[in-house]
Amino acid sequence: MGHPTINKNLTKQDTAKHNLNNYEEIRGDFSWDKISRKIDWFDNEHINIAHVAIDSHLKTERKNKKAMIWESKKGAVEEYTFADMARLTNKFANVLVNEAGIVKGDRVFFFLERVPEIYISILGTLKAGGVIGPLFSAFGPEAVKDRMFDSRAKVLVTSPSLKKKIAEILPELPCLEKIIIVNRGNDSVDAGDISYEKAIEDASEQFDIVKTHKEDYAIMHYTSGTTGKPKGAVHVHQAVIGHYATAKYVLDLQENDMYWCTADPGWVTGTSYGIFGPWSNGITQAIYEGGFSTKKWYSFIERNKVTVWYTAPTAVRMLMKSGEEVPKEYCFDSLRYMCSVGEPLNPEAVFWGEKVFGMPFHDNWWQTETGAIMIANYPVQDVKPGSMGRPFPGIYPGILDDQFNELPAGVEGNLAVKPGWPSMFRTYWEKEELYQSCFKNGWYITGDKAQKDEDGYFWFVGRADDVINTAGHLVGPFEVESVLIEHPAVAEAGVIGKPDPIVMEVIKAFVSLKVGHEPSEELMHDIKKFVTKRLSSVASPREIEFIPSLPKTRSGKIMRRLLKAKELGLPLGDTSTLEDD
Ligand code: PRX
Repeated sequence: MGHPTINKNLTKQDTAKHNLNNYEEIRGDFSWDKISRKIDWFDNEHINIAHVAIDSHLKTERKNKKAMIWESKKGAVEEYTFADMARLTNKFANVLVNEAGIVKGDRVFFFLERVPEIYISILGTLKAGGVIGPLFSAFGPEAVKDRMFDSRAKVLVTSPSLKKKIAEILPELPCLEKIIIVNRGNDSVDAGDISYEKAIEDASEQFDIVKTHKEDYAIMHYTSGTTGKPKGAVHVHQAVIGHYATAKYVLDLQENDMYWCTADPGWVTGTSYGIFGPWSNGITQAIYEGGFSTKKWYSFIERNKVTVWYTAPTAVRMLMKSGEEVPKEYCFDSLRYMCSVGEPLNPEAVFWGEKVFGMPFHDNWWQTETGAIMIANYPVQDVKPGSMGRPFPGIYPGILDDQFNELPAGVEGNLAVKPGWPSMFRTYWEKEELYQSCFKNGWYITGDKAQKDEDGYFWFVGRADDVINTAGHLVGPFEVESVLIEHPAVAEAGVIGKPDPIVMEVIKAFVSLKVGHEPSEELMHDIKKFVTKRLSSVASPREIEFIPSLPKTRSGKIMRRLLKAKELGLPLGDTSTLEDD
C-alpha cells in the first residue's frame, strides 16, 4: 500500500495519564450501556442533551466552573459558568415556549455568527424539547431556504445583518412563525420579531426541562449527497452518550483542560465537539468568534492556555503555509493534545505538528450521519501518519466489496459500520427511503472508500460518490449545478471536485452558455458571485470552464465522471451510455 512506516517517536506520552490508557482493554470491556450510566438520565428511558451538558453539573463542584470563555473578533472577552449557562438556557427555553409557542418536536433553526447566544439558544431549545437546526452564517438565501423549507422550521434565531441577507426568502417559508433577533446591544428589532436581549431579560430563570425520551429527535444537520438537495440527518437525545464517550476517550478531555474546537456550530463537529461532547464532560471551552487567521489562532492558544485543540486538515495546511518562523513568536507550552477531522490529514501535517508544537495531530474519522467519532488515533497508540486510526471501542467498521461482503486487510473497498451506536442518525428528515438505502447486508454504508491494514488501522482512499470535500465542507454538485443554471447566461452546468494541495478539493464548474452569451472574464466573475450570493462562498466554483456542450447520458444525465477524467487526464472508462452528438 506504500504507507509511511509507524513512527514510534510520535508517541512519547505518559500512558497512565490518559482516559483511554489501554486500547485493547477498554475496547474489550466496552459497552454503550455501561458508559451511558456515567451521565445523568431522568430515568431509564428519558434523557435530555441539555440537562447532561449543563444542568447535571449544578449538583457538583463544577457549578461555578467556567463553561465558556468567549473571545470576539475584536478581542472582547465574556465568561460564563455552568450556573450562568443553566440560568440563561432556562430563560431562553421560557422565551421559546411562552413567546414563540414551541412544543416538543418543533424545529428551531439558528442562522447566527459564533456568538455566546448561539450556544445558549441551542441548549435552551433542547431544554424546551425543540429540534435544533444550526446553519452556517456564511450561507446565502438559497441555502437557508432549502434547509428551513424542508424541515418546516417554526422559529429562526438570527442577527439583524443576517436577517437582511436572507430577507428575500423569508416570505417563502410558510411554516416560519417567529424570528428571534440577537442584536447584541442595538435594541430595535423589526415589528413582529422577538428581541433576544429584551425577552431574555424579562424571562424567568426557572424552567421545567422537557423530559425527552432517549429516542426523541434533538439535532438536525443538513448534509450534501450526489443527487438532490441537501438532506437533514436527524439525531436523538441519547446521541449525547456518544458525544460524551468519544470526547472522553478520543479527545482525552480531562477536568482541568482548556479545550478549543475550531469548528462552527453550523457543522456537526461544532455541535458534537463544540457543545455536547466537552460540556457533557464538564470541560471549559475557549471559543473564538472569528474564522481562520494564523496569528490570531496562535495568540488565542497562547492567551487562553489551550491544552486540547481539535481542528481540521485545511487549517493545519494553511498554518503550515505560513511557515515555521511565525509560531516561534508564541508560547505553546500549555498544549498537550491535538486532533483533526474532516478530510485526509496528510503525513506531512502530522510531522509538522510534531516539529512546531512538539506533538502530532491525531486524525479521526466520522460523518454527520455517524454523529460522533468512529475511527481515531488515540494518545496511547502509535500514530501511523496518513491513517485515520483504529475503531472507537463499541464501533465495528469493515471494508466491503460491491456486494457488501467483508474484505480482508489490505484490500480497498467500501467503508461500512455495523449499526447500533447511540449517536447514529435515525433518519434523513422525511426521506426514510433514502435513509434505508444506506443500510445493506447488516451494515451502514458510509459512501467512503478505504482499506484497513493488518494492525486494524483504517486508511482513507476517497469518496465513492461525486460529493466534493472542500476545506472539510461537503458540497453536493447537484446543489451547485442547480444554482448555476438559474444564472441568466447559463444553459447547462456540470460540477466536479478538483484536487488541491491545501483545501483537498476545489470546485470546478463546466458551463455551456445560452445562445446570445459569449464566454468572458466578466461573465465568469458574475457567475461566481451569483453562486456565492445564493449558496455560500464555500460552494462557489473556484474555476469555471466554458464548453460548447456537456457530456450526457442518453437519458440526459450530466456525466460528471467524464468531466473529471478529462480534467485530470485519466482514462475515460465506459462511455457506452454517452449521448450521441
Ligand atoms: O469523506 C469523509 C470525510 O468527510 C466526510 C464526512 O463529512 P461530514 O458529514 O461533513 O462530517 C464532518 C464531521 C467529521 C466523510 O464521509 N472525512 C471526515 N473525516 C475524515 C474524512 N476523510 C478523510 N479522513 C478523515 N479523517
